[in-house]
Amino acid sequence: MKLVLSLLVSGVAALAAGTEAKVKLPNSSADLLRGQKLFQVHCALCHGPKGEGQRGPMLTRAKLSRAPDDAALLKILEDGIRGTEMPGAGAMSDREMRQTAAYVRSLGKVAMKPVPGDAAHGAEIFRGKGNCAGCHSIHGEGGVAGPDLSGIGESRSAAYLRESIVNPGAAVPEGYLLVTVVPHTGPRVTGVRVNEDSFSIQIRDSTGRSYSFWKKDLAQVDKQRGKSPMPSYQGQLSDAELTDLVAYLASLKEAK
Ligand code: HEC
Ligand code: HEC
Repeated sequence: MKLVLSLLVSGVAALAAGTEAKVKLPNSSADLLRGQKLFQVHCALCHGPKGEGQRGPMLTRAKLSRAPDDAALLKILEDGIRGTEMPGAGAMSDREMRQTAAYVRSLGKVAMKPVPGDAAHGAEIFRGKGNCAGCHSIHGEGGVAGPDLSGIGESRSAAYLRESIVNPGAAVPEGYLLVTVVPHTGPRVTGVRVNEDSFSIQIRDSTGRSYSFWKKDLAQVDKQRGKSPMPSYQGQLSDAELTDLVAYLASLKEAK
């Protein structure tokens, strides 16, 4: 039944994509310039002024995993991506969305600079000296306290990766909010917020242990925005080691 349903759904999606495949993005230099301005206003905050990536992934890529064609790209701009920080384009007109989309596509046509460093040595630091694998998985191997990094090289620039290692607080995704709760009785607990509603909050500490609290039992809930559960490696790794580590991360691609 599930299979039939998913076949049906993908069939409908293919049909929809088929009819929308006629989407044509404007490509005059005036349109691109307008798209660039719109991008600065609506997108640069999360994707960086040149699309190099910040809270949102870098967009200077020939292929965007969630926007394989222009119809899909327009749909993302219009509706956002549900369950993520990527918002829908609220106040933009249809024409403005197309101009912005055209600018996004132009970003992908600029050749990427090769990332310097010795990726093989970086892989050793990742598993050894840096103990990064204790918290991060790559293709199913490693810890789960931090995000899976299997395809990180496809969505993050070298500059962003370096910054993440020396200054992890710079861009902490919503899913890794660090909180400290102080119960009326019993010890305080610090960890990553896994879930929260009006009545309760669930936390996972750095050892992987999970806690659930009723809010009525808590004297205080302290949310440490801008602070990462990941330690900074500033001064822990040499400049050459950092370069090799970044080269390794930049080489990671989602297995096809
Ligand atoms: C509040 C932050 C934020 C803003 C503002 C924002 N984005 Fe995003 N965007 C994200 C995040 C986060 C993702 C990644 C979502 C995911 O897949 O987990 C994303 C994903 C995308 C993707 C898909 C990339 C891929 O890898 O396939 C595109 C394209 C995109 N954004 C374009 C835009 C454009 C164009 C604008 C401006 C109109 C914009 N975004 C504004 C946060 C933002
Ligand atoms: C104690 C666990 C822990 C260790 C050890 C750790 N990390 Fe992290 N890392 C995290 C958490 C949690 C996040 C998510 C919060 C954030 O972005 O600051 C993260 C985020 C990241 C990101 C950003 C991912 C993104 O898409 O924004 C990168 C890159 C990264 N870590 C690489 C590394 C590398 C390389 C090492 C080893 C030198 C390392 N981490 C060691 C827990 C850890």
